[in-house]
Amino acid sequence: MAATCQCEANRQLYVPKLAVLEHITPQTPLETLLQFRFEDGQPLGHRAGQFVEVSLPGIGEAPISIASAPCEDPIFELCVRRVGNVTTALHNLQEGALVGIRGPYGNGFPDEALHGQDVLIVAGGIGLIPVRPLIHHIMCNRFDYGTFTLLYGMKRPEEMLFRDEVEQWQASDAVDLHLTIDRPHPDWSGHVGVITTLFPDLDPDPARTRAVVVGPPIMYRFVILECQNKALADENIILSLERNMKCGVGKCGHCQINNKYVCLDGPVFTYSELKHMWEAI
Ligand SMILES: Cc1cc2nc3c(=O)[nH]c(=O)nc-3n(C[C@H](O)[C@H](O)[C@H](O)COP(=O)(O)OP(=O)(O)OC[C@H]3O[C@@H](n4cnc5c(N)ncnc54)[C@H](O)[C@@H]3O)c2cc1C
Ligand code: FES
Repeated sequence: MAATCQCEANRQLYVPKLAVLEHITPQTPLETLLQFRFEDGQPLGHRAGQFVEVSLPGIGEAPISIASAPCEDPIFELCVRRVGNVTTALHNLQEGALVGIRGPYGNGFPDEALHGQDVLIVAGGIGLIPVRPLIHHIMCNRFDYGTFTLLYGMKRPEEMLFRDEVEQWQASDAVDLHLTIDRPHPDWSGHVGVITTLFPDLDPDPARTRAVVVGPPIMYRFVILECQNKALADENIILSLERNMKCGVGKCGHCQINNKYVCLDGPVFTYSELKHMWEAI
């Protein structure tokens, strides 16, 4: 039997769709929120926790988490920290500009594992970006979940993302929000200390609680220990990894850890999946 050529299918994998930048909302001096809509009006069709590859002709492509909830389709949002070529160019765009979008990619957060359970989200720094769609989803479907606790830590108060929303969450009974900054600051009257210093105040039910942890690499090891101290099972500690990625679709091997591709098998894993994988966290 003649072999079927995969060339066209593979080529299509790398072809971005054009999206229009509709709205820009600066968040901090380093991060900005960009709102897009596909030129053809189609929805992105993502799950909370997935990412897209964003491209700008002549500059490059970068993986960026989807910051808006699926129910907001056909509008979708990306919150971008300015660190290099692509991210700086994204910051310099004006409303009406066109960008290329591939995706959504990755597995996203396992809603089936969270549904009906107590949810504890631990977000450090820009780790709040990938969990924001999950927060929106839980807030919109509040009766589908048990208790909902959100820990959000940042180095300094001026690094707070989505400030208006954080204030709404603070005023809401639907979520038990705990904020912290790393070191004392004249503009801050709340908790001070790294995010793990919020754990002594928590009393999660280990049988019902699912922890979702996203933040800088250093945070994972210590937050996992705190979750284990609260008797959470390793399979109930859910982490989203950020790795150096190129293709985003399991072809180039850039994001490979042992036999897993973070872009394809992740970026969301349970700690029980990761704990025997060398250099995963
Ligand atoms: C699954 C996934 C989701 C992501 N989601 C987001 C998101 O929602 N928002 C966001 O802002 N970023 C996100 N990132 C990181 C983003 O992809 C990188 O910051 C981006 O690729 C950098 O591209 P650049 O061309 O601007 O930088 P480059 O020009 O490639 O790099 C410039 C400099 O920045 C450094 N750099 C590159 N990446 C990072 C990084 N991640 N952190 C710090 N320094 C870096 C490089 O080492 C280099 O020194 C995500 C990454 C992954 C893998
Ligand atoms: S980024 Fe290419 S295999 Fe994951």
